[in-house]
Amino acid sequence: TLPVPNVQSIADASDNCTEIPEKYVIPEINDSLVLNGAAAGPSDLPIIDFSRLCEQSEEEIAKLSLACEDWGYFLLINHGVPDEVIENMKVAIIEFFRLPLEEKKVYAKQPNTGFEGYAQTFVISEKPKVVSGEKYILSTRTVARRNMKLWTQNPPTFKDALDQFTEEIQKVANTVFESIGKSLKLDKFIDNFKDCQQSVRINYYPPCPHASNVLGIPPHTDTVGLTVVLQVNEVHGLQIKKNGVWLPINPLPGALIVNSGDIIEIMSNGKYKSLEHRAVVNSEQERFSIATFHGPRADAQIGPLPAETPAKSEAFYYKTVSFQDYSRMVFAHKDDGKNI
Ligand code: SIN
Ligand code: FE2
Repeated sequence: TLPVPNVQSIADASDNCTEIPEKYVIPEINDSLVLNGAAAGPSDLPIIDFSRLCEQSEEEIAKLSLACEDWGYFLLINHGVPDEVIENMKVAIIEFFRLPLEEKKVYAKQPNTGFEGYAQTFVISEKPKVVSGEKYILSTRTVARRNMKLWTQNPPTFKDALDQFTEEIQKVANTVFESIGKSLKLDKFIDNFKDCQQSVRINYYPPCPHASNVLGIPPHTDTVGLTVVLQVNEVHGLQIKKNGVWLPINPLPGALIVNSGDIIEIMSNGKYKSLEHRAVVNSEQERFSIATFHGPRADAQIGPLPAETPAKSEAFYYKTVSFQDYSRMVFAHKDDGKNI
């Protein structure tokens, strides 16, 4: 379904990054920053205290509101997800990616599995763009949406680890959604996210000698309500585009990275941002991350919600469509990696 002609995929992940044909090697990805931490300093992302959101602290909700307006990104501390749950998840995904390719391919994304499944993302396109990594996408909620055939049996701990991890992350997302609804003074907001759809994109970015010419995930915005990113190891790679400049996100150990997606931007009528972001790769170190996406309910109507306080723009500039139609339109216009 990719609209990009001349796309080549190279079968062997183990050395996919060393075999970029000369003619595809693109100029340095140097959009105002030097990669691998050389020049750009740590970004001063807002820090939100989840435990205070649980207490419905007005002060913290106001901070959250500012974070979503100014950045669309924040670091969430005191999120209450047990260490053990996070640790089990981390161990399970690293073990999964370490499996021989043949074993991972048992869970490969197929035309009939939609977005779901394991895939290598070594793609050279004419855009120019070289993307390198491995991804494993699974629907996790509602439970009825799970395709258990795609949940790896190896390591045997994977299923339980993912189930528990995503249950905890869902609780976090629910509270953040509630707080966002309050901050926007939109009573109806939260109805769109009760029993919402949740999925995970588990990422592996092997080290790549051509790191400065290669991306892990090309620039995109998230087509969902909220994304929660768990940085699995110490290697950073997520970057956000703020005021035209790519900024690396240096996560706080123990904090979750949260961003508001397109649906929140639309429902808030543009008041809250869905920031463009991308993942870079590292020349020497491998990197793992887990992005957990929280869409609206399948039957939600996607459009600006009437607000008591006027949105930044007086005129509504988004029209209202069903989430199903919305997704269809978006995915018809975004290419691989652009959405999740
Ligand atoms: C990551 O690898 O940090 C996740 C990238 C994303 O949020 O799209
Ligand atoms: Fe994303």
